[in-house]
Amino acid sequence: MAQTSFVPFCGVVLAAGKGVRMKSRRPKILHEVLGVPMVAHVVRVLEVLGAEKIYVVVSPSDHDAVREALGEKINLVIQREQFGTGHALLQTEKTLNGFSGSLLVLYGDTPLVTPELLKSLMSHHHKEKAQATMLTAELSNPTGYGRVIRKRQQFQSIIEERDAQEEEKKISEVNTGMYCMESPLIFRYLPSLSQDNAQKECYLPPVLERLVNDRHKVSTFMTKDSDLILGVNNRQELALVTQKMAERIRNYHMLQGVTLLDPASIFIEHDVIIGEDTIIYPHTILEKKTRIGKDCRIGPSTRLANTVVEDNAIIQYAVADNAVIGTGASVGPFAYLRPGSNIGKKVKIGNFVEVKKSTIGDESKVPHLSYVGDAEIGKHVNIGAGAITCNYDGKGKHKTIIEDHAFIGSNSNLVAPVRIGTGAVTGAGAVVTKDVEPHTVVAGVPAKPLRKKEGEPEDARRENLTGSVGKKN
Ligand code: UD1
Ligand code: CA
Repeated sequence: MAQTSFVPFCGVVLAAGKGVRMKSRRPKILHEVLGVPMVAHVVRVLEVLGAEKIYVVVSPSDHDAVREALGEKINLVIQREQFGTGHALLQTEKTLNGFSGSLLVLYGDTPLVTPELLKSLMSHHHKEKAQATMLTAELSNPTGYGRVIRKRQQFQSIIEERDAQEEEKKISEVNTGMYCMESPLIFRYLPSLSQDNAQKECYLPPVLERLVNDRHKVSTFMTKDSDLILGVNNRQELALVTQKMAERIRNYHMLQGVTLLDPASIFIEHDVIIGEDTIIYPHTILEKKTRIGKDCRIGPSTRLANTVVEDNAIIQYAVADNAVIGTGASVGPFAYLRPGSNIGKKVKIGNFVEVKKSTIGDESKVPHLSYVGDAEIGKHVNIGAGAITCNYDGKGKHKTIIEDHAFIGSNSNLVAPVRIGTGAVTGAGAVVTKDVEPHTVVAGVPAKPLRKKEGEPEDARRENLTGSVGKKN
């Protein structure tokens, strides 16, 4: 999304709350929605809107974790004790240092908010020339939210769920926790907020009532799309918000030309890129910076994290993490590509194959039941069923090099470090402990070169040794 220009404003995100309702050891605002911490979603929206400065209010114990999640550019302001949302905003006064202009004040637990919504809020605020504007929404189930009390349509106050009478609880218009407020005026009112409520906290919404009482202009702006303001206080709400976010991302990809079969079963994180005419099958999860090309078929039941998939690849029932899968390659069913797997063009990785930190050259095949670790495999290599690299000797990891056109017989064990030369062949069940010269055939335990019989065709030797039935590859 491009940055949007606007009257200069600063963003403040309140994120210091204890989040007790999450029943978690992790700070609430760092719980992730599709791979991104909630507070980072909110901060990202402020960045897109072009906020001059962004301040995030955090508790001392969460400081380092939030810093890690948000990076160095964001200003963190400490709220030493959690005395409530009004007290949290007050903590930014010193850092804002008399800033004169609008503050967009948000809470760190509303990750579905969009730049467009906040742009409308700010436009309304400026058009109304208000000192403060609150974004409101009508919810079919407003439980847990502060209710908007009006008298003859006019905004009067906010009453929190815990402090509300039965009649007030029936009100469906709620405070979304998103405000546009003028600084420095707002800071004149914050210190005197009372803690006379069920939580014994210094709430932020009553500041609007105080402004009204002093005849300052307070406005409200209602969004029609109440999904955008949903807050997360417990795990049920986290699941709901995650579903909504997942739907938003899926809709985006579908409109970009990606087919999703059974969309509701597919989860795609924010930074994932998918090319046109790719089909994603059910129960597939695409995470982190995964990048998928055009005309691929991904899934069913596949999980890709930080993985690059080039055009026309087919991946079924597979897990890949930090891997590269080349054009036209086929992976799975039931394959596991661990970090550093670099699968070449038109490579076949078949069922029950695990690859780790290895390069597999173009058009090579590892069709069944293999472990390939710390290996460099050339082009047009065939690895027979059950063949593995023995890369670990109990102390260190060692490398296996298999050069182009080599043929590794079924159930061969390649004891690393070892090199199999170009066009070399290992017999079925060979335990290869020494380098194999190019175009040489080895067999046995430990594997030894076989002498070529006079007049024997190359193919006959291969078939006797490797158990391969007629087919060369
Ligand atoms: C708040 C609003 C409520 C609104 C709802 C919208 C108040 C008092 N109530 O209720 O009117 O309908 O959000 O989602 O504001 N925080 C701090 N320091 C604190 C306390 C909270 O930084 O001392 C932060 C939290 O981390 C959180 C945000 O403020 O991100 C809101 O706090 P929360 O406890 O979630 O308020 P709600 O009960 O949801
Ligand atoms: Ca909340």
